[in-house]
Amino acid sequence: MAGGGVVTAGEIKHYPGRTTFFVIMVCIVAASGGLMFGYDVGISGGVTSMDEFLAKFFPAVLAKKRAEAASESAYCKYDDQKLQAFTSSLYISALVSTFFSSYTTRHYGRKFTMLIAGFAFCFGVIFTAAAQEIIMLIIGRVLLGWGVGFANQAVPLYLSEMAPSKWRGALNILFQLAVTIGILFASLVNYGTEKMARNGWRVSLAIAGLPAIFITLGGLLLPDTPNSLVQRGKHESARQVLRRIRGVDNIEEEFDDILIASNEAASVKHPFRNILKRRNRPQLVISMALQFFQQFTGINAIMFYAPVLFQTLGFGSSASLYSAVIVGAVNVLATCVAIAVVDRFGRRWLLLEACIQMFLAQTAIAIILAAGLKGTEMPEYLGWIAVVLICVYVSSFAWSWGPLGWLIPSEIFPLETRSAGQAITVSTNMVFTFLIAQVFLSMLCAFKWGIFLFFAAWVVVMFLFTYFLIPETKGIPIEEMDLVWTKHWFWKRYVPYPETLAHTSGIPMGDMKFFRLGDGKDISVCSRARLEPGALK
Ligand code: BGC
Repeated sequence: MAGGGVVTAGEIKHYPGRTTFFVIMVCIVAASGGLMFGYDVGISGGVTSMDEFLAKFFPAVLAKKRAEAASESAYCKYDDQKLQAFTSSLYISALVSTFFSSYTTRHYGRKFTMLIAGFAFCFGVIFTAAAQEIIMLIIGRVLLGWGVGFANQAVPLYLSEMAPSKWRGALNILFQLAVTIGILFASLVNYGTEKMARNGWRVSLAIAGLPAIFITLGGLLLPDTPNSLVQRGKHESARQVLRRIRGVDNIEEEFDDILIASNEAASVKHPFRNILKRRNRPQLVISMALQFFQQFTGINAIMFYAPVLFQTLGFGSSASLYSAVIVGAVNVLATCVAIAVVDRFGRRWLLLEACIQMFLAQTAIAIILAAGLKGTEMPEYLGWIAVVLICVYVSSFAWSWGPLGWLIPSEIFPLETRSAGQAITVSTNMVFTFLIAQVFLSMLCAFKWGIFLFFAAWVVVMFLFTYFLIPETKGIPIEEMDLVWTKHWFWKRYVPYPETLAHTSGIPMGDMKFFRLGDGKDISVCSRARLEPGALK
């Protein structure tokens, strides 16, 4: 069992404490890191459809856009590598930064990493909004990418470690809620700035300064997580934070489990090498697969390019931005549904239900486009039916693969590989986000309506993967997660069940603590007498 903890006959335990107002407030502030990520996702589609912006930085794209306006195929209007590079460059930078942010989260803490994210965002906003030359724009995008890499590394971990296990799902999804609010906010801003005679794009890019300041303040004011404090030897501060966030004095049992996890983590000198070991296979495979699948739902085809997509459906530019706002609002509301039900219905149920809903909606969109879009014209009522179907699709993503793609990886890795695991999660996500951003418009041009069937086919694969290989993790304490693998029909062959050890050692299950040595050699067992709560300092 990774990270240690008492396992009584395989039962999952609960620590004393309640969900305090303090922990909720702290999690809300931390989650604001997601606002920035969301704003970046949502803003680029609108900005790149503004003629003044194109004329300044991408004159060739503007000329092509005007020439193609009169062309036959609606699907190829915006197919341009440079334009896509503006959107995608941020994610390449985020990808690279993740490996630095993994180091800072482990050695300097979650809070410090959020602070770096905040500063990178602030400078990124200054460079992009004030850009005179394309080089300034690129530097700005790279800095914003650093911010996204650092924030996406630190915030989900922060939330999962702060939250009581009973509400970990809901509190962690605050991150995704912030992402969706950021996207909606960006589409509202684009809707307003598009009407400005001059410098609309600058205003769009400058308003990102608001969430940037918010996360910077968060990085300055929040306490770090008890897990991270223990990991850095600050035991007394960790106890104090635990008392405040759990609202009880009796925190020794939870503290001890964190301490055992931390001792074990400390002996792991090379977390990235460790993560490749056989016993970490389930976490690694699931986290990477979740990221690949999350992006191959095709969600960012909509999030990045909704205004462009709606223009393809024959809408005018204002109606397109307006429709993007509707989709953004549905995204936020459906994420609230996830918060309400994730700790009740569980992760698996949501993932599976969403696959069915996404598959049906995507297939229907493909049929409508195939039948309705002739040249650049489509009957208006069909355009609106497509908007409704896109909302059906986005809502199912928003209560499942969106939030759970971040929640599940942040809760399944043991402390010893948690930072490295999160880095791999974020970077895998960024690779595929980059890919979709870079190729979607070209794929739309090549596949036409078939693009939606392409994504629908991936949804079938995700359904099967979830059904067979993703176990339920609802309500299980974060440092107890290995129990899940030891009981799983497939993953148990990678993670041995502690009972086998209990049997061979002759110590009854209820009298033992299990934890793994950092040298990678399976599980050590000692009697509970040696590890009474509070015995470890
Ligand atoms: C994904 C983003 C996506 C967003 C949409 C997030 O979970 O990682 O790529 O744009 O959800 O709400």
